[in-house]
Amino acid sequence: MSNKMWGGRFASAPDAIMAEINASIDFDRHLFRQDIAGSKAHAAMLAKQGIIAADDAQKITEGLDKILAEIEAGNFNFQRALEDIHMNVESRLAEMIGAPAGRLHTARSRNDQVATDFRLYVRDTVDQLDAQLADYQQALAERALEQAGTVMPGFTHLQTAQPVTFGHHLLAYVEMTARDRGRLADARKRMNESPLGAAALAGTSFPIDRHATASALGFARPMANSLDAVADRDFVLEVLSAASIAAVHLSRFAEEIVLWTSPIVGMLKLSDKFTTGSSIMPQKRNPDAAELVRAKTGRIVGALNALMIVMKGLPLTYQKDMQEDKEGAIDALSSLSLCITAMAGMVRDMQPEPARMKKAAGEGYATATDLADWLVRSLGIPFRQAHHITGSIVAAAAKDNLPLHKVPLATMQGVEPGITDDVFSVLSVDRSVKSRVSFGGTAPSNVKREAKKWLKLL
Ligand code: ARG
Repeated sequence: MSNKMWGGRFASAPDAIMAEINASIDFDRHLFRQDIAGSKAHAAMLAKQGIIAADDAQKITEGLDKILAEIEAGNFNFQRALEDIHMNVESRLAEMIGAPAGRLHTARSRNDQVATDFRLYVRDTVDQLDAQLADYQQALAERALEQAGTVMPGFTHLQTAQPVTFGHHLLAYVEMTARDRGRLADARKRMNESPLGAAALAGTSFPIDRHATASALGFARPMANSLDAVADRDFVLEVLSAASIAAVHLSRFAEEIVLWTSPIVGMLKLSDKFTTGSSIMPQKRNPDAAELVRAKTGRIVGALNALMIVMKGLPLTYQKDMQEDKEGAIDALSSLSLCITAMAGMVRDMQPEPARMKKAAGEGYATATDLADWLVRSLGIPFRQAHHITGSIVAAAAKDNLPLHKVPLATMQGVEPGITDDVFSVLSVDRSVKSRVSFGGTAPSNVKREAKKWLKLL
């Protein structure tokens, strides 16, 4: 049997392989809610404009509501032979209500239909991701307030650089996440225009009201150009690129969790809730969730890459290549959602090891900059020269295997005679972090203020 949706021109059914490569129902079934919402808005508009009878529109709407309930209850028989979600729903509608179902597709094509469905789907997903990211920020800010005074080593090149506070470190991720949310919000605003009514590509001769369907579906306005409406997928690309950046941020923190929970570092512990064991090594506590957050970044960035490459060579307007926008994007966005939830869970669960952190902060001459700053402030020595003097003192300390605050005053005076006892007041890690009160600096007082600011904002 040839296809009942478009079979008029065809004498026989497609080859099995044709059907298999063509079918998108296995992944676009995720769009059922949006597909039904779009069809209901379209049917109501057609009736209001006198294009179909009010009675038919009512039958269509009731049928679509029943289909929605069937799908939600898991009672819907999705068929590959019907290619995609649009034809599966329409075909079921025809079974249910007969002839009026055939009027639903008036002044519409699957091209504007799929563009509408996917915009709605991506928009809904962005809203859900935004709420999850806000919860993740909340978790980070709560822990930041609690850890405002916890001293740990700050790193550059993964070498001990200067002491910072754990709270400050957590707030860095609150800031990154705020920008991630900003990018998603920008993308949402730009994508919030309705393709519906562009029809196949050229618009339609029926007296449709695209403004009505746009507003019924929560879009700000209809898209102004029918060719653009069915041809572009920049809204998916934009959200995937915002999602990729967000995933990269999550992955960096995940990597730190993996590193810091390693026994050789020992700065952080995850409870049993967020660790797994080994089937052979009884002592193991593996941070699998963090590792998987790090890994899933690959498929999210991969989906962006894949769609960029699909789109780059496509002449206007709709090409079947564009059906490949969904599988990767749906997977990427649901992966991101899972990663955010897992990270928020780990942030709430993790326990820092303050003693280990503080000891590590004191190792590696992390307060050397404080010593150089003291030379500048107390002796009026230019910073470059102070840097050099401090370098010599650090070298002497390293030779005797002493931390900076244990170097005898006489040794320091051997390098710079002007140094007094007062220098020891800046060499502890606590003093170091307390002194970093510049705007955006790591001082506990700053961290407390910033954490409270965020907790109020969120
Ligand atoms: N399943 C298709 C997609 O996802 C729907 C649009 C089909 N349009 C067409 N002209 N064949 O892109």
